[in-house]
Amino acid sequence: MKGIILAGGAGSRLYPLTLVASKQLQPVYDKPMVYYPLTTLIEGGIRELCLISTPQDLPRFRQLLGDGSAWGLSIEYREQAKPEGIAQAFLIAESFIGPDAVTLILGDNVFYGGESFYRAFAEFRSGATIFGYHVNDPERYGVVEFDARGQAISIEEKPRSPKSNYAVPGLYIFDNQVVQITKDLKPSARGELEITDVNVEYMRREQLRVHRLSRGFAWLDAGTSSSLHEASAYVQTIEKRAGIKIGCPEEAAFRRGFLSLDKLEAQANRMPKCEYREYLTEVVAEAKRLARNLPQ
Ligand code: DAU
Repeated sequence: MKGIILAGGAGSRLYPLTLVASKQLQPVYDKPMVYYPLTTLIEGGIRELCLISTPQDLPRFRQLLGDGSAWGLSIEYREQAKPEGIAQAFLIAESFIGPDAVTLILGDNVFYGGESFYRAFAEFRSGATIFGYHVNDPERYGVVEFDARGQAISIEEKPRSPKSNYAVPGLYIFDNQVVQITKDLKPSARGELEITDVNVEYMRREQLRVHRLSRGFAWLDAGTSSSLHEASAYVQTIEKRAGIKIGCPEEAAFRRGFLSLDKLEAQANRMPKCEYREYLTEVVAEAKRLARNLPQ
């Protein structure tokens, strides 16, 4: 399974914050936004990644994430010259995807909690898997409608009169058909290759699964100034209360076995003195304690 992080777009809703740094580089509490979707993919066991962004912003993402080897990943970069739709990612990254299945995650979607994604990655064989999440403002999203048996029967992009309260979050798992399906798409009225049209096509082929995310799961949208602020407050609350970090790629790579304990420790030691380094140092110390099986 390959992974794509889509981190382009105009970022106009966050103006003037986005005059000098793109939306996905803005802080969500204590880390750049892109760390969160990156960590979600690592937690799902995906280590071959491609990040797509604008020609202006791509150099900063390279500076931040490098080639991924620090985390036991490989990260390639591709440019999206103009924001011509989320599904365009599959055309831009066609050579990266090759013959494989692919997960696309939007660079401004923050997820936390539950096992739903990891189970979906593990169970994925073919077709498409997307998710449904109950929200109070479905008209802002792709909206999925279910029948009495829980089968998805319609998906609409930002409908004026939503048929349900289930929004489709920005994480999509597709088999290799997605490339050809996207090539056959026509741009929508707003001139974009719509991810919803890809999902509708899989539904037409009877190859779409929609998992409803449980109530304990958090999906935060960081696309406007107030939702960015709320996402930061949420992350801060959980991190302070539980003494863990959300969206920490080093820790996720270590727990997934992509990074050895020695390498994790070496990375922490290279960081300047800060809370992030203290946290990773504690993760290392705890792993060593467990390895020695000593009481705390
Ligand atoms: O967040 C989930 C929603 O994302 C889905 O429910 C919708 O079905 C889907 O269309 C999308 O809706 P948005 O209104 O959030 O899409 P937006 O145009 O804001 O793009 C989402 C992210 O993808 C944003 O961070 C910018 C990036 N993007 C978007 C487009 C259209 C790109 O990098 N390139 C693009 O061409």
